[in-house]
Amino acid sequence: MFQWLSRLLGGKKKAAAAISKSGRGGVLPPSKPLLKEDVDKRFDKGNRIGQGSMSKVFKALDRKLGRNVCLKLLDEKKTAHFESRFKGLNKPPEGEICQRLRHDNIVQTLDYGVHSKTGEPFIVMEFVEGMGLNFLIETKNKKLEGNRVNFLRQIANGIDYLHKSGFMHRDICPRNIMVTNEGVVKIIDFGLAIPFRPEFCRPGNRTGTPNYLAPEIIRRSSTDLRVDLFALGVTAYEMFTQSLPWESSQSMQALIGHMNSPPKDPREFVPGMKDETRAFLLKAIERQPSGRFQTALDFREALEKVLE
Ligand SMILES: Nc1ncnc2c1ncn2[C@@H]1O[C@H](COP(=O)(O)OP(=O)(O)OP(=O)(O)O)[C@@H](O)[C@H]1O
Ligand SMILES: [Mg+2]
Repeated sequence: MFQWLSRLLGGKKKAAAAISKSGRGGVLPPSKPLLKEDVDKRFDKGNRIGQGSMSKVFKALDRKLGRNVCLKLLDEKKTAHFESRFKGLNKPPEGEICQRLRHDNIVQTLDYGVHSKTGEPFIVMEFVEGMGLNFLIETKNKKLEGNRVNFLRQIANGIDYLHKSGFMHRDICPRNIMVTNEGVVKIIDFGLAIPFRPEFCRPGNRTGTPNYLAPEIIRRSSTDLRVDLFALGVTAYEMFTQSLPWESSQSMQALIGHMNSPPKDPREFVPGMKDETRAFLLKAIERQPSGRFQTALDFREALEKVLE
Protein backbone atom coordinates (compact mmCIF):
# COMPACT_ATOMS: atom_id res chain seq x y z
CA MET A 1 0.00 0.00 0.00
CA PHE A 2 2.76 2.40 1.00
CA GLN A 3 4.79 1.43 -2.03
CA TRP A 4 1.80 2.00 -4.21
CA LEU A 5 1.18 5.36 -2.62
CA SER A 6 4.75 6.56 -3.09
CA ARG A 7 4.72 5.43 -6.72
CA LEU A 8 1.52 7.29 -7.27
CA LEU A 9 2.78 10.47 -5.69
CA GLY A 10 6.15 10.22 -7.40
CA GLY A 11 4.45 10.17 -10.78
CA LYS A 12 2.51 13.30 -10.16
CA LYS A 13 4.63 15.52 -8.01
CA LYS A 14 3.10 18.73 -9.25
CA ALA A 15 -0.47 17.67 -8.72
CA ALA A 16 0.30 16.29 -5.30
CA ALA A 17 2.18 19.46 -4.34
CA ALA A 18 -0.75 21.55 -5.48
CA ILE A 19 -3.06 19.58 -3.25
CA SER A 20 -0.88 19.47 -0.19
CA LYS A 21 -0.69 23.26 -0.37
CA SER A 22 -4.44 23.41 -0.07
CA GLY A 23 -4.12 21.00 2.82
CA ARG A 24 -7.37 19.23 2.08
CA GLY A 25 -6.86 16.53 -0.52
CA GLY A 26 -10.56 15.82 -0.81
CA VAL A 27 -10.79 15.01 2.87
CA LEU A 28 -13.96 16.55 4.15
CA PRO A 29 -15.01 17.39 7.66
CA PRO A 30 -17.74 15.08 9.00
CA SER A 31 -20.91 15.28 6.95
CA LYS A 32 -23.87 17.16 8.31
CA PRO A 33 -26.94 14.96 8.86
CA LEU A 34 -28.57 14.42 5.50
CA LEU A 35 -31.49 16.76 4.91
CA LYS A 36 -34.75 14.91 4.21
CA GLU A 37 -37.37 17.00 2.58
CA ASP A 38 -40.56 16.68 0.54
CA VAL A 39 -39.28 17.95 -2.81
CA ASP A 40 -42.83 18.33 -4.16
CA LYS A 41 -43.71 20.69 -1.31
CA ARG A 42 -40.51 22.71 -1.38
CA PHE A 43 -40.22 23.23 -5.14
CA ASP A 44 -42.59 24.38 -7.81
CA LYS A 45 -41.13 22.43 -10.71
CA GLY A 46 -41.12 24.18 -14.05
CA ASN A 47 -39.73 22.92 -17.32
CA ARG A 48 -37.60 19.85 -17.43
CA ILE A 49 -34.29 21.11 -18.84
CA GLY A 50 -32.23 18.01 -18.99
CA GLN A 51 -32.45 14.29 -18.96
CA GLY A 52 -29.10 13.06 -17.86
CA SER A 53 -28.23 9.40 -17.69
CA MET A 54 -28.41 9.53 -13.90
CA SER A 55 -30.86 12.35 -13.24
CA LYS A 56 -33.76 14.58 -14.14
CA VAL A 57 -33.03 18.30 -14.14
CA PHE A 58 -35.65 21.04 -13.77
CA LYS A 59 -35.89 24.78 -13.56
CA ALA A 60 -37.86 25.31 -10.35
CA LEU A 61 -39.05 27.88 -7.87
CA ASP A 62 -37.54 27.05 -4.49
CA ARG A 63 -40.12 28.18 -1.93
CA LYS A 64 -37.62 27.79 0.92
CA LEU A 65 -34.92 29.98 -0.65
CA GLY A 66 -37.45 32.23 -2.42
CA ARG A 67 -35.71 32.12 -5.79
CA ASN A 68 -35.51 30.28 -9.07
CA VAL A 69 -33.05 27.42 -9.00
CA CYS A 70 -31.91 24.41 -10.94
CA LEU A 71 -33.13 21.22 -9.28
CA LYS A 72 -31.28 17.98 -10.05
CA LEU A 73 -33.12 14.86 -8.94
CA LEU A 74 -30.85 11.85 -9.00
CA ASP A 75 -32.03 8.36 -9.86
CA GLU A 76 -31.97 6.58 -6.51
CA LYS A 77 -31.01 3.12 -7.78
CA LYS A 78 -28.34 4.25 -10.25
CA THR A 79 -26.80 6.58 -7.67
CA ALA A 80 -26.72 3.84 -5.02
CA HIS A 81 -25.11 1.46 -7.54
CA PHE A 82 -22.44 4.05 -8.42
CA GLU A 83 -21.73 4.88 -4.79
CA SER A 84 -21.46 1.17 -3.91
CA ARG A 85 -18.17 1.07 -5.85
CA PHE A 86 -16.67 3.15 -3.07
CA LYS A 87 -18.01 1.16 -0.16
CA GLY A 88 -15.99 1.69 3.00
CA LEU A 89 -14.06 4.62 1.51
CA ASN A 90 -16.25 7.32 2.98
CA LYS A 91 -16.87 8.97 -0.37
CA PRO A 92 -18.82 12.20 -0.01
CA PRO A 93 -21.98 12.18 -2.17
CA GLU A 94 -22.23 14.47 -5.22
CA GLY A 95 -24.24 17.10 -3.31
CA GLU A 96 -21.68 17.34 -0.54
CA ILE A 97 -18.74 17.67 -2.94
CA CYS A 98 -20.61 20.35 -4.90
CA GLN A 99 -21.62 22.39 -1.92
CA ARG A 100 -18.06 22.77 -0.75
CA LEU A 101 -16.87 24.18 -4.05
CA ARG A 102 -16.97 27.95 -4.35
CA HIS A 103 -15.53 29.34 -7.57
CA ASP A 104 -16.74 31.67 -10.30
CA ASN A 105 -16.24 28.98 -12.93
CA ILE A 106 -18.03 26.21 -11.07
CA VAL A 107 -21.82 26.15 -10.82
CA GLN A 108 -22.87 27.19 -7.33
CA THR A 109 -24.69 24.59 -5.30
CA LEU A 110 -27.12 25.98 -2.76
CA ASP A 111 -28.38 22.90 -0.95
CA TYR A 112 -28.72 19.16 -1.18
CA GLY A 113 -30.65 16.37 0.46
CA VAL A 114 -32.95 13.43 -0.10
CA HIS A 115 -36.59 13.44 -1.17
CA SER A 116 -38.47 12.26 1.92
CA LYS A 117 -41.17 10.54 -0.15
CA THR A 118 -39.13 8.77 -2.84
CA GLY A 119 -35.59 8.52 -1.46
CA GLU A 120 -34.17 10.32 -4.51
CA PRO A 121 -31.13 12.47 -3.71
CA PHE A 122 -31.56 16.07 -4.87
CA ILE A 123 -29.20 18.96 -5.50
CA VAL A 124 -30.23 22.61 -5.62
CA MET A 125 -28.07 24.88 -7.77
CA GLU A 126 -28.06 28.40 -9.10
CA PHE A 127 -29.89 28.35 -12.42
CA VAL A 128 -27.37 29.07 -15.16
CA GLU A 129 -28.95 31.22 -17.87
CA GLY A 130 -26.89 30.30 -20.87
CA MET A 131 -25.96 27.51 -23.22
CA GLY A 132 -23.99 24.30 -23.15
CA LEU A 133 -20.54 24.51 -24.72
CA ASN A 134 -21.55 21.46 -26.81
CA PHE A 135 -24.37 23.53 -28.32
CA LEU A 136 -22.00 26.43 -29.07
CA ILE A 137 -19.62 24.04 -30.83
CA GLU A 138 -22.27 22.09 -32.75
CA THR A 139 -24.02 25.20 -34.00
CA LYS A 140 -20.78 27.07 -34.82
CA ASN A 141 -22.15 29.77 -32.55
CA LYS A 142 -20.78 33.29 -32.98
CA LYS A 143 -20.09 33.44 -29.23
CA LEU A 144 -17.13 31.15 -29.74
CA GLU A 145 -15.47 33.51 -32.19
CA GLY A 146 -12.59 35.29 -30.48
CA ASN A 147 -13.58 33.68 -27.17
CA ARG A 148 -11.98 30.25 -27.35
CA VAL A 149 -8.94 31.25 -25.32
CA ASN A 150 -11.11 33.22 -22.93
CA PHE A 151 -13.47 30.27 -22.31
CA LEU A 152 -10.63 27.76 -22.03
CA ARG A 153 -8.84 30.00 -19.51
CA GLN A 154 -11.99 30.03 -17.38
CA ILE A 155 -12.44 26.25 -17.61
CA ALA A 156 -8.78 25.78 -16.63
CA ASN A 157 -9.25 28.12 -13.67
CA GLY A 158 -12.25 26.08 -12.49
CA ILE A 159 -10.34 22.81 -12.88
CA ASP A 160 -7.29 24.25 -11.12
CA TYR A 161 -9.48 25.20 -8.16
CA LEU A 162 -11.20 21.80 -8.17
CA HIS A 163 -7.89 19.94 -8.23
CA LYS A 164 -6.39 22.10 -5.50
CA SER A 165 -9.50 21.37 -3.45
CA GLY A 166 -8.58 17.69 -3.80
CA PHE A 167 -11.16 16.44 -6.27
CA MET A 168 -11.18 15.00 -9.79
CA HIS A 169 -14.18 15.75 -12.02
CA ARG A 170 -13.81 12.75 -14.37
CA ASP A 171 -16.47 13.94 -16.79
CA ILE A 172 -15.08 17.11 -18.33
CA CYS A 173 -16.65 17.50 -21.80
CA PRO A 174 -18.49 20.28 -23.65
CA ARG A 175 -21.87 18.94 -22.41
CA ASN A 176 -20.78 19.54 -18.83
CA ILE A 177 -19.63 23.10 -19.39
CA MET A 178 -22.10 25.94 -19.63
CA VAL A 179 -21.48 29.50 -20.79
CA THR A 180 -23.74 32.19 -19.31
CA ASN A 181 -25.28 34.91 -21.43
CA GLU A 182 -22.56 37.21 -20.02
CA GLY A 183 -19.81 34.87 -21.19
CA VAL A 184 -18.92 33.34 -17.82
CA VAL A 185 -18.02 29.65 -17.94
CA LYS A 186 -19.58 27.30 -15.37
CA ILE A 187 -18.43 23.71 -14.96
CA ILE A 188 -21.41 21.50 -14.05
CA ASP A 189 -22.18 17.84 -13.32
CA PHE A 190 -20.07 16.49 -10.48
CA GLY A 191 -21.87 13.14 -10.67
CA LEU A 192 -18.63 11.23 -11.25
CA ALA A 193 -16.33 13.41 -9.11
CA ILE A 194 -14.16 11.69 -6.52
CA PRO A 195 -11.61 12.78 -3.94
CA PHE A 196 -8.09 12.60 -5.38
CA ARG A 197 -6.74 9.96 -3.05
CA PRO A 198 -5.00 6.67 -3.92
CA GLU A 199 -7.87 4.47 -2.80
CA PHE A 200 -10.18 6.21 -5.29
CA CYS A 201 -7.72 6.15 -8.19
CA ARG A 202 -7.14 2.42 -8.39
CA PRO A 203 -7.53 0.92 -11.83
CA GLY A 204 -11.12 -0.07 -12.32
CA ASN A 205 -14.27 0.85 -14.08
CA ARG A 206 -14.00 2.93 -17.19
CA THR A 207 -15.91 5.94 -16.00
CA GLY A 208 -16.66 9.08 -18.01
CA THR A 209 -17.88 10.08 -21.45
CA PRO A 210 -16.37 7.79 -24.14
CA ASN A 211 -14.76 10.30 -26.53
CA TYR A 212 -13.12 12.18 -23.66
CA LEU A 213 -11.66 9.19 -21.79
CA ALA A 214 -7.91 9.37 -21.30
CA PRO A 215 -5.99 6.34 -22.61
CA GLU A 216 -5.00 5.34 -19.07
CA ILE A 217 -8.70 4.97 -18.22
CA ILE A 218 -9.34 2.90 -21.34
CA ARG A 219 -6.35 0.70 -20.49
CA ARG A 220 -7.60 0.43 -16.92
CA SER A 221 -4.33 1.74 -15.54
CA SER A 222 -4.27 3.87 -12.43
CA THR A 223 -5.44 7.41 -13.02
CA ASP A 224 -4.77 10.84 -11.62
CA LEU A 225 -5.75 14.47 -12.14
CA ARG A 226 -4.32 14.39 -15.65
CA VAL A 227 -7.43 12.54 -16.90
CA ASP A 228 -9.31 15.83 -16.49
CA LEU A 229 -6.57 17.60 -18.45
CA PHE A 230 -6.86 15.10 -21.30
CA ALA A 231 -10.64 15.62 -21.40
CA LEU A 232 -10.02 19.37 -21.36
CA GLY A 233 -7.59 18.87 -24.26
CA VAL A 234 -10.22 17.03 -26.33
CA THR A 235 -12.68 19.81 -25.48
CA ALA A 236 -10.16 22.46 -26.62
CA TYR A 237 -9.51 20.50 -29.84
CA GLU A 238 -13.26 20.47 -30.54
CA MET A 239 -13.60 24.18 -29.82
CA PHE A 240 -10.94 24.97 -32.41
CA THR A 241 -11.76 22.37 -35.08
CA GLN A 242 -15.42 21.44 -34.47
CA SER A 243 -14.25 17.84 -34.69
CA LEU A 244 -12.96 15.14 -32.41
CA PRO A 245 -9.27 14.17 -32.57
CA TRP A 246 -10.21 10.50 -32.99
CA GLU A 247 -13.29 9.12 -34.76
CA SER A 248 -16.32 9.42 -32.47
CA SER A 249 -17.09 6.15 -30.81
CA GLN A 250 -19.23 4.65 -28.10
CA SER A 251 -17.73 1.16 -28.30
CA MET A 252 -14.85 0.25 -26.02
CA GLN A 253 -13.24 -1.81 -28.80
CA ALA A 254 -13.04 1.23 -31.06
CA LEU A 255 -11.72 3.39 -28.21
CA ILE A 256 -8.96 0.89 -27.54
CA GLY A 257 -8.11 1.13 -31.25
CA HIS A 258 -7.81 4.92 -31.00
CA MET A 259 -5.27 4.68 -28.32
CA ASN A 260 -2.94 2.91 -30.73
CA SER A 261 -3.23 5.53 -33.43
CA PRO A 262 -2.18 9.19 -33.42
CA PRO A 263 -4.85 11.90 -33.33
CA LYS A 264 -5.91 13.63 -36.52
CA ASP A 265 -3.86 16.70 -37.35
CA PRO A 266 -6.02 19.72 -36.41
CA ARG A 267 -4.95 21.25 -39.75
CA GLU A 268 -7.10 18.62 -41.48
CA PHE A 269 -10.02 20.69 -40.23
CA VAL A 270 -8.47 24.16 -40.04
CA PRO A 271 -5.77 24.33 -42.72
CA GLY A 272 -4.63 27.81 -41.71
CA MET A 273 -4.19 27.00 -38.01
CA LYS A 274 -1.18 28.73 -36.47
CA ASP A 275 1.78 26.58 -35.37
CA GLU A 276 1.43 27.59 -31.71
CA THR A 277 -2.24 26.63 -31.61
CA ARG A 278 -1.65 23.31 -33.33
CA ALA A 279 1.22 22.44 -30.97
CA PHE A 280 -0.89 23.42 -27.96
CA LEU A 281 -3.82 21.21 -29.01
CA LEU A 282 -1.62 18.22 -29.74
CA LYS A 283 0.18 18.50 -26.42
CA ALA A 284 -3.14 18.77 -24.58
CA ILE A 285 -4.24 15.37 -25.96
CA GLU A 286 -0.93 13.52 -25.62
CA ARG A 287 -1.74 9.87 -25.05
CA GLN A 288 1.04 9.49 -22.48
CA PRO A 289 0.10 11.38 -19.30
CA SER A 290 3.73 12.52 -18.89
CA GLY A 291 3.63 14.21 -22.32
CA ARG A 292 0.54 16.24 -21.53
CA PHE A 293 0.15 19.45 -19.56
CA GLN A 294 0.70 18.30 -16.00
CA THR A 295 -1.56 20.74 -14.24
CA ALA A 296 -4.41 23.07 -15.12
CA LEU A 297 -2.02 25.96 -14.47
CA ASP A 298 0.47 24.59 -17.03
CA PHE A 299 -2.41 24.34 -19.49
CA ARG A 300 -3.44 27.91 -18.76
CA GLU A 301 0.07 29.29 -19.09
CA ALA A 302 0.57 27.60 -22.46
CA LEU A 303 -2.83 28.84 -23.57
CA GLU A 304 -1.61 32.42 -23.38
CA LYS A 305 0.55 31.78 -26.46
CA VAL A 306 -2.35 30.37 -28.46
CA LEU A 307 -3.65 32.43 -31.35
CA GLU A 308 -7.26 32.09 -32.45
N1 LIG B 1 -27.25 24.72 -12.76
C1 LIG B 1 -27.78 24.53 -13.97
N2 LIG B 1 -28.39 25.54 -14.63
C2 LIG B 1 -28.95 25.35 -15.84
N3 LIG B 1 -28.96 24.16 -16.49
C3 LIG B 1 -28.36 23.11 -15.90
C4 LIG B 1 -27.73 23.23 -14.62
N4 LIG B 1 -27.24 22.02 -14.26
C5 LIG B 1 -27.54 21.18 -15.27
N5 LIG B 1 -28.21 21.82 -16.26
C6 LIG B 1 -28.70 21.22 -17.52
O1 LIG B 1 -29.12 19.87 -17.28
C7 LIG B 1 -28.31 18.95 -18.02
C8 LIG B 1 -28.06 17.69 -17.21
O2 LIG B 1 -27.35 18.03 -16.02
P1 LIG B 1 -26.13 17.15 -15.48
O3 LIG B 1 -25.10 17.08 -16.54
O4 LIG B 1 -25.70 17.70 -14.17
O5 LIG B 1 -26.87 15.75 -15.26
P2 LIG B 1 -26.41 14.25 -15.52
O6 LIG B 1 -27.52 13.33 -15.16
O7 LIG B 1 -25.15 14.00 -14.80
O8 LIG B 1 -26.22 14.33 -17.04
P3 LIG B 1 -25.42 13.52 -18.12
O9 LIG B 1 -25.56 12.09 -17.87
O10 LIG B 1 -26.14 13.99 -19.36
O11 LIG B 1 -24.03 14.04 -18.06
C9 LIG B 1 -27.08 19.73 -18.40
O12 LIG B 1 -26.47 19.23 -19.56
C10 LIG B 1 -27.59 21.15 -18.55
O13 LIG B 1 -28.20 21.32 -19.81
MG1 LIG C 1 -23.91 16.05 -17.71
